[in-house]
Amino acid sequence: MNVELYIPPKKGSLDPVISEIAALEKRIFPKHESMSSYLKEEVNRRGTTLMFVRAKQSHSNLEPPDVTKAGESEPLPPVVGYIIFTASSLVGNITKLAVHEAYRQQGYASALIEAVVKRLKGRRIASVALHVDPSRTAAFQLYKKLGFSVESRHESYYAPDRHAVRMLLEID
Ligand SMILES: CC(C)(COP(=O)(O)OP(=O)(O)OC[C@H]1O[C@@H](n2cnc3c(N)ncnc32)[C@H](O)[C@@H]1OP(=O)(O)O)[C@@H](O)C(=O)NCCC(=O)NCCS
Repeated sequence: MNVELYIPPKKGSLDPVISEIAALEKRIFPKHESMSSYLKEEVNRRGTTLMFVRAKQSHSNLEPPDVTKAGESEPLPPVVGYIIFTASSLVGNITKLAVHEAYRQQGYASALIEAVVKRLKGRRIASVALHVDPSRTAAFQLYKKLGFSVESRHESYYAPDRHAVRMLLEID
C-alpha cells in the first residue's frame, strides 16, 4: 500500500496529532489497555517512536503535508492508524497498533508494520517482538500473515481471563 507515513518530532508542536491519536486510542481500546491519558509522555520516552498514517487523499501526487505546521496549511486528512514501538540494540518491540474502524482491511496496519520493520532493519536490529491477545483475531491473523510466529504464552497477561502470546519476527 502506498501511503505517507509520519514520524512526529520529539520536540515541537505535537499536541494536535497526539490529541487525535489519543481520541482514537480511547475509542478503540478498553480503559485498562488505553494509553490515551499518558500518550504524550509515552511517545516522548527515550527509545520510543510513534508513526502514524493519515487517510489517503484521492489526488495522490500532492506534496505530503508538514505535520509540524498543522493548522497553518490546508486541513489535513484524519489520522487513521498509528504504531508505537521501542528499540534496544537487539530487538524491536511493537507496543501499540491500531487503525480506525472505518479504515480497516485496506492495508494501513500492514503498511505501518512494514515501515517499522524497514526502520529497524536499517538499524541492524535482528528481530521484532510483540504481545497480543490471540482472541483479537484481526491482529493475530495480521501478525501471522506478516511472518510473526508465536514464541511463548503468558497467562492472565492483560486481565485474569485474558492471555497473551509473545510473537517474534526475525528480520535479519
Ligand atoms: C488489527 C488491526 C490493527 C488491523 O488493521 P488493518 O489496517 O485492518 O489491517 P490490514 O488491512 O493491514 O490487514 C492485513 C491482514 O490482516 C488480517 N486481518 C485484518 N483484519 C482482519 C479481520 N477482521 N479478520 C481476520 N483477519 C484480518 C488479514 O490477514 C489481512 O490480510 P488480507 O487483507 O489479505 O486478508 C485493526 O483491526 C485494529 O485496529 N484492531 C483493534 C486494535 C487491535 O487489536 N490492535 C492490535 C493490538 S495487539
